[in-house]
Amino acid sequence: MNISHVQLENENDTVRFAKIVGQLAQAGDFIALYGDLGAGKTTFARGLIQDLLGPPTEVPSPTFTLLQTYDAPNFQIYHFDLYRLKSPDEVWELGWEEIGVGVTLCEWPENAGEYLPAKRLEIHLEQDAAGRMAVLRAIGYEGAQNPWKERLIAIKHHFI
Ligand SMILES: Nc1ncnc2c1ncn2[C@@H]1O[C@H](COP(=O)(O)OP(=O)(O)OP(=O)(O)O)[C@@H](O)[C@H]1O
Ligand SMILES: [Mg+2]
Repeated sequence: MNISHVQLENENDTVRFAKIVGQLAQAGDFIALYGDLGAGKTTFARGLIQDLLGPPTEVPSPTFTLLQTYDAPNFQIYHFDLYRLKSPDEVWELGWEEIGVGVTLCEWPENAGEYLPAKRLEIHLEQDAAGRMAVLRAIGYEGAQNPWKERLIAIKHHFI
């Protein structure tokens, strides 16, 4: 499975979904969070980070800092918000070369242009007549090598 859909009826659903993804996350994962202003990208990142580090952890939106990092038990988490990036080249001023060693959550990934990793999980947070929904797509992997294949099935299975 390379694509999966999850219905998110309210904020609690977004947080619950984020926790499931966080429990399956592995060092090296790049998770690109797409969606309009207010779609729920930061809500998702906060839910995932607070689940792995403990709820007292403050997770501010990186709107102005562009990057916040966290020490989760098994890996470093890089939480980017590239909304204010003026050009893709600016990612190198943020330590973009380090991200492969940890788990990256990236809001406004389209602003990284050509520097977006070829292998990534895309989560598109969308709104339609039925409400909010997340569309998950594993990008850049060849069939059997896709490390998200089993995980997308598990996410769907656990999100009831
Ligand atoms: N599934 C959902 N259904 C309804 N409301 C939701 C859902 N998920 C999150 N929200 C609400 O939508 C808003 C999303 O804000 P959030 O800051 O997470 O958006 P964002 O995508 O990070 O926006 P920005 O592009 O400005 O960074 C919050 O008020 C949150 O409570
Ligand atoms: Mg945000």
